[in-house]
Amino acid sequence: MGMIELKNTDKSFDNVIKVLDNVSFAVQKNSITGYLGPNGAGKSTTIKLLLGLIEVDNGEAMINGVNLYEDSDLSIQIRKSVGCMLEYDTLYPSLTAKENIKYWGQLYGLNINETEIKAENLLKKMKLKNISVSKYSNGMKKRLSFAKSIIHDPEVLILDEPTSGVDFESRLIIREIIKELHEKGSTIFLSSHDLEEVRKICTDIIIINQGQIQVQGKLNDIMQNNENYNNIEDIYTSVITE
Ligand SMILES: Nc1ncnc2c1ncn2[C@@H]1O[C@H](COP(=O)(O)OP(=O)(O)OP(=O)(O)O)[C@@H](O)[C@H]1O
Ligand SMILES: [Mg+2]
Repeated sequence: MGMIELKNTDKSFDNVIKVLDNVSFAVQKNSITGYLGPNGAGKSTTIKLLLGLIEVDNGEAMINGVNLYEDSDLSIQIRKSVGCMLEYDTLYPSLTAKENIKYWGQLYGLNINETEIKAENLLKKMKLKNISVSKYSNGMKKRLSFAKSIIHDPEVLILDEPTSGVDFESRLIIREIIKELHEKGSTIFLSSHDLEEVRKICTDIIIINQGQIQVQGKLNDIMQNNENYNNIEDIYTSVITE
């Protein structure tokens, strides 16, 4: 069983074409898996299904064997071990950066002292000023959004394009934090359009195109098993242009 799994999943909106058409994949525990595919391929939809924010039409979307869409004690328990950052994340503009992080910490059940210390550290690490979020730039909001997703040292971290629109230095910091969490045993699933970044930090990749999974597995294995692949760009273009 994968730590993060889709099994024979279909999803369409308004009964139009299937965004996901019988999609199955399994993300191995303690991997850093890059989820790739062109605009509109269904990456954000997959992430929302996994987090239980929308419901599958058919099949299953599970984290640690549990469907988070279900309202059960087990689902609540698993949710606490998951950190997430969505494409358009919700931050409270009238609160300061620290208040936003602390709010999430408390939602995850951390105590007030713990959240205070962790929020302070995260702001420092991400080089963010503790001012009202209404005064934040787009990139600053993304960095804050990443910070709040890891306040509880999640066992599973799901990130929708965590570094898009983020400056170079902050990208490096985000990558370092992802690698640290991985070394501590977390499983990370992130969507990205930045193939170079995926090559640098991911152990595994999954590529989705036109509602179907085209490639999944360990990056090294995929490269070794096909002599036409010299780099990740080769893998990507070979399945996307077909
Ligand atoms: N709430 C919705 N209602 C109707 N259609 C939707 C909705 N959400 C997504 N879609 C459609 O589903 C498809 C997949 O969208 P999705 O946001 O999952 O793509 P993506 O792979 O994340 O793309 P990008 O790389 O641009 O972020 C698109 O055709 C999109 O128009
Ligand atoms: Mg998206």
